[in-house]
Amino acid sequence: MLIRNLAAALLLCVSASAALAQKFEALAQTPQMGWNSWNKLGCNVDEKTIREMADAMAASGLKDAGYDYIVIDDCWQVGRDAHGDVVADPVRFASGMKALADYVHGKGLRFGLYSDAGWQTCGKRTGSRGREFQDARRYAEWGVDYLKYDWCFTDGLKAEGAYQTMSTALKEAGRPVLFSLCEWGQSRPWSWAAQVGHSWRTTGDITACFDCVLDHGDWKAFGVLQIMDMQEGLRTHAGPGHWNDPDMLEVGNGMSESEDRAHFSIWAMLAAPLIAGNDLRSMSPATRAVLGNKAVIAIDQDALGVQGFKYSEHEGVEVWFKPLADGDWAFMALNRGKQAQDIRFDWARHVVKDGISGRDAALKTRRYALRDLWKDAAAGDTGQPLTARLDAHEVLVLRLTPMQAAK
Ligand code: GAL
Repeated sequence: MLIRNLAAALLLCVSASAALAQKFEALAQTPQMGWNSWNKLGCNVDEKTIREMADAMAASGLKDAGYDYIVIDDCWQVGRDAHGDVVADPVRFASGMKALADYVHGKGLRFGLYSDAGWQTCGKRTGSRGREFQDARRYAEWGVDYLKYDWCFTDGLKAEGAYQTMSTALKEAGRPVLFSLCEWGQSRPWSWAAQVGHSWRTTGDITACFDCVLDHGDWKAFGVLQIMDMQEGLRTHAGPGHWNDPDMLEVGNGMSESEDRAHFSIWAMLAAPLIAGNDLRSMSPATRAVLGNKAVIAIDQDALGVQGFKYSEHEGVEVWFKPLADGDWAFMALNRGKQAQDIRFDWARHVVKDGISGRDAALKTRRYALRDLWKDAAAGDTGQPLTARLDAHEVLVLRLTPMQAAK
């Protein structure tokens, strides 16, 4: 009898943990979308601002476009109490994290926090090293749905083990949490992190600049093109539930409108997490239009989950393709340069195949209708060569849809 009861209990445990594992896995079947405080606010976070961002996410329509996480980055924590529990800043977050999470949930959004695998965060707040299980339980009590986990103050630690520890801790705490690894690509997380979390940063930090490197002495921040170039060779590692993360968006943070469009399009072609980093409360209609372009978001969020690839580069104009679940293809032409460029792309002369999905666009024999996703307009078909003029740092993004064969 005892043995039968034990066996039944064991079976229950196993199926409960299988169900939980499934809930974790289901979290990022397409790349996560949301907003994070860091790019705009840095350490200047407080509950009023976070509530206002949640309000703006809902009111602006961006929530309806798919952005559903509100994530507080570094500097919300001030230390640990006598039990070792992490303590949120009692002045800036006077109502407590649980109340803030409830507020965000009440808006139909999900709530995220940031911590660090080391002893301290990059902003020198308490890290989770040695307290992973305790922190994970606290997050679950507060109602946290997303954890961004950084890599400062980790001397002597191995990334794979450190991230695995927090991954296990989150699962043990029992609340499904999207686990976003932020290790800057140093230990090639794409080669080990698919089983550990839902996304991993591939590079150092982004900065709101299209083509530049900012040298801060002991670290560098990178522009959009620099980050894009660092993604080369990584696409085979991404897929549903596990994504390369080229860092958060800088749309609306000071680049030109065409640069913002290009940045957003590149991230969509890369099937990157789309985490807005601007002030949602005061964004311009132009910024709102970039972040809210549903046709471009659909390229990012496509169910096939295959990252796009660079097909060609000629005189600073890159051509990219991305296969899509329904047999369509996304096409991007990007002018990296500072001068306008005339482009010509004779579809029938190109062989476009994707090694991951095994798809062949068969451009010689199959004709596709073209839709310009930034103009939101039909743009002819692949029966004629494409000609266009691209301004400096401008993109053309097309969706190719196979045309019915004439009967
Ligand atoms: C960096 C991280 C940034 C931000 C910052 C906070 O390491 O890459 O995205 O989280 O720390 O201090």
